[in-house]
Amino acid sequence: MSVEEEQREREERLIRIVQQSFDASPDERLRIVFQSLVRHLHAFVREVRVTEEEWNSAIEFLTAVGHITDDKRQEFILLSDVLGISMQVVAVNNEAYKNATEATVFGPFFVNDAPEIKNGEDMSFGAVGEACWVEGSVKDTNGNPIPGARIEVWEADEDGFYDVQYTDGRTAARAHLFSDEDGNYRFWGLTPTPYPIPHDGPVGQLLEAVGRSPMRASHLHFMVTAPGCRKLVTHIFVRGDELLKWDAVFGVKESLVKDFVSHPGDEPTPDGRDLEGNAWSSVRFDIVLAPDDRA
Ligand code: BEZ
Ligand code: FE
Repeated sequence: MSVEEEQREREERLIRIVQQSFDASPDERLRIVFQSLVRHLHAFVREVRVTEEEWNSAIEFLTAVGHITDDKRQEFILLSDVLGISMQVVAVNNEAYKNATEATVFGPFFVNDAPEIKNGEDMSFGAVGEACWVEGSVKDTNGNPIPGARIEVWEADEDGFYDVQYTDGRTAARAHLFSDEDGNYRFWGLTPTPYPIPHDGPVGQLLEAVGRSPMRASHLHFMVTAPGCRKLVTHIFVRGDELLKWDAVFGVKESLVKDFVSHPGDEPTPDGRDLEGNAWSSVRFDIVLAPDDRA
């Protein structure tokens, strides 16, 4: 046996032994997951020929990710996001179904129990930014309207911050509402603006080291639920935003890019609201929910 063959045999033997250590797992799913994980991680180490120094750096990096993580800051989610893993999990778990609206990354800024607004009301609650009229329908994949669908919406303000990133405990630029008896909805929000994902921690350092931007394309988050339907977690993006190509977490899907139409301040608003001469925008987002195959 040549030296190279001996080396390959050693490496492959180790993989077999580690995989066999999971053979007797009483939990079949755990066995499958960990044997596959071991196969792929070992393949990675062997392909890259990871040095001991590099592996120590990796452990230090993950330690730092753990240290900065708390109830408010979830650096592991950010890491999963910038590696595209979050979007891959979304893809695997939200199979394409007819004309159902596509899902995208959830992100760390959703909050349970956001205030309820009625159709036509304002979800900005004083957050700074240009007013945006958002309207659309909620239907099933056969085109039937879905009345009473719960629609959660949340977004960053014009300065690029979600309410939870301020320290004064404010609730702003988030709400929930319900589609009306015809399955339609409408509300005032803010014209989305681009913002960076939190980049003052180890994930930010990683992005910097590899020359990547932390910026997310401008977007407005939606989570839509209705009985018998698959939960939809998504956002809509602004057509023409130059960051659409470089979204830091790979969340952009062409079907979610919408026309946000700009209106001058002297143009009447759809509901007659007086915006005191300020320019505004409007967008239409028609939502189609897939049936819940787990129902
Ligand atoms: C967000 O869209 O809110 C988000 C998504 C991933 C990472 C950070 C923020
Ligand atoms: Fe966001």
